[in-house]
Amino acid sequence: MPGRRRVRVQEANRIAPDSARASAAASCAKLQRAVARKTLFHLRLNDDSDVALARRRSREAGSAAGLPTTQIEELATAVTEIARNAVVHAGQGELLIEVESDERRALIVTVRDQGPGIADVEQALRDGYSTGQGLGLGLPSARRLVDGLELRSELGAGTTVILEKWLPSATPSRE
Ligand SMILES: Nc1ncnc2c1ncn2[C@@H]1O[C@H](COP(=O)(O)OP(=O)(O)OP(=O)(O)O)[C@@H](O)[C@H]1O
Ligand SMILES: [Mg+2]
Repeated sequence: MPGRRRVRVQEANRIAPDSARASAAASCAKLQRAVARKTLFHLRLNDDSDVALARRRSREAGSAAGLPTTQIEELATAVTEIARNAVVHAGQGELLIEVESDERRALIVTVRDQGPGIADVEQALRDGYSTGQGLGLGLPSARRLVDGLELRSELGAGTTVILEKWLPSATPSRE
């Protein structure tokens, strides 16, 4: 479809380069797979108070899923940036926090909106690119704080960002 852009990015900062690449590819493919998931939270994003709630819910989900404190904060910060983008750039959106219930456990956060979409998603993921008043650091920072980020956008139709944060028990089986 014209104007449709999609990019998938995988970060695996905490593992050695070669195995990181292999497990990153495996995990990336997993974003596409039908894996059993349980919904933990689902909320509307209309304003700043919803963004703050999204941050709190991310912390709760991370804590309930057994993430270490630093990783809970990483997830919460990434979710805050993406949720804020939905409010600022699209006017509103919705957020879903799910946990995968198979043996390769991960938290999956999906932020969807029906806003204007992004013309060039690769450019939007670069440090310092902004069409607004911001620093252009929200998307690239979020990408660095999670284990996987997928950005799908269609001009005039909206944007979906999927964040993946591996849970402690999941990491060894992916190496
Ligand atoms: N949900 C969205 N809908 C439409 N455009 C978006 C959306 N999210 C991001 N963008 C586009 O991508 C650009 C980069 O986003 P990013 O979050 O990195 O920076 P920013 O929001 O402009 O500033 P900052 O987050 O640093 O305050 C935005 O300026 C905007 O053009
Ligand atoms: Mg932003």
